Amino acid sequence: MKKLVVLTGAGISAESGISTFRDSNGLWENHRIEEVASPEAWEKDPEMVLRFYNIRRKQLFEVEPNEGHKALVRLEEKFDVHIVTQNVDDLHERAGSSHVLHLHGELKKVRSTGDPSLVYMLDHWELKMGDVCEKGHQLRPHIVWFGEPVPMFEKALDIARQADVFLVIGTSMVVYPAAGLISYTKPEIPKYYVDPKAFPVSGVSHLTVIQEKAGEGVPKLVNELLGLA
Ligand code: APR
Repeated sequence: MKKLVVLTGAGISAESGISTFRDSNGLWENHRIEEVASPEAWEKDPEMVLRFYNIRRKQLFEVEPNEGHKALVRLEEKFDVHIVTQNVDDLHERAGSSHVLHLHGELKKVRSTGDPSLVYMLDHWELKMGDVCEKGHQLRPHIVWFGEPVPMFEKALDIARQADVFLVIGTSMVVYPAAGLISYTKPEIPKYYVDPKAFPVSGVSHLTVIQEKAGEGVPKLVNELLGLA
């Protein structure tokens, strides 16, 4: 089976009702997103950081996967599909995708600030100051913040290098190292970029740019790929 690798970003979840990061000027309550999602923000104002993620987590319990997420599941009929997502939502999993790697962490998980190996699943939306791990340390969102290492990147690189087909969906391609993944794929493989603002990525050959929303562009592309396979 051919290996089909998909890099997704906030845009694939937009039609589910989750706002993207940079479309509303990248601001949240007048803070730049980079200023909320950072270790410095956690040091300075952990309550604000928790509030930001609590709002997003609460929203996640209220939304559903859309046609874009669902179409990617159908690809598994004919391809060995691996999704590498920058998203911290669980909409790929809930749609039914089998292999999902989260580069930037997961909103429904929290971890200990004293022992990073202690990671827990939250079954409710709110994480508060005073919520601690079994060793008594404060819990924080299990999210990769700006300036923090991206532990899953090596694994994502391995997957990208093995791809026979590579899809990029709903990402502005400005946040590294994720945006650089496409450059590690084999030059000759077909690549597709679905995003209303998709653009030809410099130095990347055999790239088809599809300027459409995920909910429309992805099902069409999936049909085409299944027909071709
Ligand atoms: N379908 C597809 N793409 C869409 C849609 C849609 N319906 N609506 C918006 N988009 C596109 C936008 O055109 C934009 O290119 O989604 C992209 C969203 O870009 P960003 O908000 O920058 O999100 P993303 O690329 O996922 O950001 C990367 O940055 O903030 C950090 O860690 C966070 O994982 C995130 C990373």
